[in-house]
Amino acid sequence: MSGVTETPHDPPIDLRSDTVTRPTDGMRAAMACADVGDDVYDEDPTCHALEERVAALLGKEAAVFTVTGSMANLLAVRALVPPGKEVLCEARAHIARAELGAHAAIFGVTSRTWAHPRGLLDLDAVQAMLVPDAGPYFVSTAAVSVENTHNFGGGSIQPYEGLRKLREVTGAVGVGVHLDGARLWNASVAAGIPVGEYAALADTVSVCLSKALGAPVGSVVAGTAEQMAEARIWRKRLGGGWRQAGVLAAAGLYALDHHLDRLADDHTNARDLARRLADAVPGSVDPAAVETNIVVLNLPATGPTAGEVAARARQDGVLISVLGPTTLRLVTHLDVDQAACAHAAEVLARALTS
Ligand SMILES: Cc1ncc(COP(=O)(O)O)c(C=O)c1O
Repeated sequence: MSGVTETPHDPPIDLRSDTVTRPTDGMRAAMACADVGDDVYDEDPTCHALEERVAALLGKEAAVFTVTGSMANLLAVRALVPPGKEVLCEARAHIARAELGAHAAIFGVTSRTWAHPRGLLDLDAVQAMLVPDAGPYFVSTAAVSVENTHNFGGGSIQPYEGLRKLREVTGAVGVGVHLDGARLWNASVAAGIPVGEYAALADTVSVCLSKALGAPVGSVVAGTAEQMAEARIWRKRLGGGWRQAGVLAAAGLYALDHHLDRLADDHTNARDLARRLADAVPGSVDPAAVETNIVVLNLPATGPTAGEVAARARQDGVLISVLGPTTLRLVTHLDVDQAACAHAAEVLARALTS
């Protein structure tokens, strides 16, 4: 196959996730000279600057810098859902599938889910499930969580109008809305809608700096001043209080300054990859449905398994994620440029068809 060398790409082209990026020289320099203090004493000026910056971007009163997106989600859902009540979310939402049951195990929160092939909000399903005051027999609903973009749904963007209606429906019955915006930056750049407009339709919002934006660590949860004061207490209780975390906050601030606009390149690269792979295995992905930086491939049951394809690609220096026996995920990011994506597409096309 043209353009594919026999020698594996070195270093590997890592498309497993946008979490694999390494801090750039500029980011490392910003981290090295960050002004720091003890954040458990609430004395780290760079943490304060990051929290204020993100709260302002999201139009919220306050924000708390956390070690992971999972912790940001945990603190947000805790703020909205008391123990014994439920949060509604899509069936493959990160909070339901990939946080190891933390919301139930730690905070006594249960969940019920609706299913959508691309992880999108289904307002009819939500309305059918929503029981704000279920009385003494069934579980009462305290919040609905929406993921934007939706990771396992293929980086799909939640239609804004649906979110607006969700706000109306939940607001009318006193149910909260959490926005898992780990990749809200991608949704915003792709849809041309400021993050604050999305955030205005939710009570609490979590955003990640360590995914699309290229920071090594860190997420931020935002909400009211009261919610965030409580979140700060719970963060410490969970062991998530940190000291001179300003070195990490500096990476987040640098990422917001330098890595937001370039997300459009990741989206173009993902769409190009999807086109190439759809040519290799028709029906495995709809390139038109690739809106941001995530490509989910659904392989036919008759060909090589997802594990086999990933193993073949690895031998040729391309790393991808196996999400299921016939499902693969590829994520474009700061550390893979257009040429690397083009090369990866050739390697993958060969792995899929040989
Ligand atoms: C949508 C979404 N929310 C939350 C998270 C959790 O982030 P972390 O891995 O930092 O806990 C992820 C991680 O991939 C995610 O995709």
